[in-house]
Amino acid sequence: MVTICPSILSADFSRLAEELKDVEQKGAGCIHIDMMDGHFVPNLTFGVPVIKALRPVTELPFDAHLMVTNPEAYIDDLADAGVQYVTVHQEACVHLDRVLQQIHEAGMKAGVALNPATPVSTLSCVAGQLDLILIMSVNPGFGGQKFIPYSVEKIRQAKELLQKAGNTEAVIEVDGGINAKTVQLVKDAGATFLVAGSAVFGAADRKTAIASLR
Ligand code: DX5
Ligand code: ZN
Repeated sequence: MVTICPSILSADFSRLAEELKDVEQKGAGCIHIDMMDGHFVPNLTFGVPVIKALRPVTELPFDAHLMVTNPEAYIDDLADAGVQYVTVHQEACVHLDRVLQQIHEAGMKAGVALNPATPVSTLSCVAGQLDLILIMSVNPGFGGQKFIPYSVEKIRQAKELLQKAGNTEAVIEVDGGINAKTVQLVKDAGATFLVAGSAVFGAADRKTAIASLR
């Protein structure tokens, strides 16, 4: 069973509320929100006030992907804004263990994202504490990029890592370049949360796009 998480990075920013309602009606299971600060990645998107404004629009869980330096500065505000999943980048956290504790203390699920060049083994010490591992299958910062094939092996490794840690609850999410051509590869490898930006928001028929990814 997989959950399709449309990334609002590819939505029409002038009509975000309508866009969220639309994908909710068309089968999305979660809303993926890409927070970028222009430092960790060379792009800038939205922050907590926008997330807060969108919270009443849909009942779907919010999955905030923090492509920011100092993610710890936003955790409590994200909890107040009604976010369910907070995913920080391993590369942005000097004190990853502490950040994970902070997310849990704020009452949210904690995820860690890995850039394409970051090995899965960097999560071995915290594997038991994770609710989610996000394997980036593109370099973060932009929608519509080409899927990096070696990500498939990293999904398998993440699955193994969680199994070894006896963590049966955590999910593996994949983000970047997911479309009709790549989706089967990542599902077979063990990803169950599938982020799709351009493949959902850019589709003429979003219902069919979501159903076929699922
Ligand atoms: C990229 C973002 C993604 C992005 C995916 O940094 O994390 O969530 O929106 O876009 P697609 O699905 O178009 O590759
Ligand atoms: Zn993302």
